[in-house]
Amino acid sequence: MSRDVTFVHLTDLHIGDPAQDDHLFSDTAQTLREILAQVASITPKPSFIVASGDLTNRGDAASYRLLCEIMNGTDLPVIYAIGNHDTREGFYAGMDIHSEAPDAPFYHDRVIDGIHVITLDSSTPNYIGGTIEDEQFDWLANVLDTKTELPKLIVSHHPPALGDGPDLAHWRHIDHGHSMRLAQLLKGRNIVGILSGHIHHDRVSNWYGIPVVVGTGQHAATDILRNDVLRMVRGSSFAIGTIRKSGLTVAFVPQPANREELNVYPLEMLLQRAAAAPVAAE
Ligand SMILES: [Fe+2]
Repeated sequence: MSRDVTFVHLTDLHIGDPAQDDHLFSDTAQTLREILAQVASITPKPSFIVASGDLTNRGDAASYRLLCEIMNGTDLPVIYAIGNHDTREGFYAGMDIHSEAPDAPFYHDRVIDGIHVITLDSSTPNYIGGTIEDEQFDWLANVLDTKTELPKLIVSHHPPALGDGPDLAHWRHIDHGHSMRLAQLLKGRNIVGILSGHIHHDRVSNWYGIPVVVGTGQHAATDILRNDVLRMVRGSSFAIGTIRKSGLTVAFVPQPANREELNVYPLEMLLQRAAAAPVAAE
C-alpha cells in the first residue's frame, strides 16, 4: 500500500419491491440510487465499494437483477457478501455468477489498490444468526498465509460475537464458538478491520484489537434505545473508510431519518433460532 486507500461500506441493502413485499419497510432501491449519487461525489475517488450482505430482502433472483441494474450506476469495483436475507441460489442466478453448487457458500478474496479484501459467507440457510463452517475456516487459514505483506480487510455480514461466552441474543452475530475460532485465526495477522452489518445500527467495537465496524444499512434502523423488543425505525446510512499506515478510519454518512416506527418484533421470536425464518428480521 503506497498511499491512503479510501473505500465505501454499504450493508443491508435489502433490495426488493415494497409494493409486493410486506416485510420491506422502505423503498430500498431508491435509497441505493440516492446513496450511489452521493458516492459519486466523494473525493478522492474511492477504490472500491463493499456491500456486506442482505443484498436483497427476499433472496429472489429478480431482486438481484434489480441490484445489478442499479449498481451499474457506479464504475467502482463492488465486493459482495451475502447475509441471512439472501439465498445462495438466488444470488448466483440473479448475479449471473458461476458456482459449483447452487447452495455453495460464497467466500472469496481480492486485492484492490494494495488492500487484501477477504470476504466470508456467514449466512446459515434458514437461520438468522451467523456461522462459519469448517471448509470455510480451512480456506481462510490458507488465504491468510498469502499476500502477508498487505493489510487485510475482512468482510462478514454477521459481526463476530463480542462477549466472553454465548448469550441469549445469538441471532445477532456469528456463533460464539465460531467467533472464538475466528479470533484465534486472525490473531497476529495484519487485519485492519472487519466490516459487517446485520444488526442495523452504526457501531464500532474493538474486538481483540481488531476494529469491527457495523453499518445501519439502507432498509431500516434498529432503535437501540429499546432492549425489550426489536423496534425498527426509519433511518439509513453508509460509511466512508480510509486505510492508512496507521490503520482504519470510518466516517458514517447518515441519511435523513425521522425515526418513524416501522415494525416491532418480540424478542422471544428471535431467540428461538430454529423457528426464526431468515425473512423475519434484520
Ligand atoms: Fe439486514
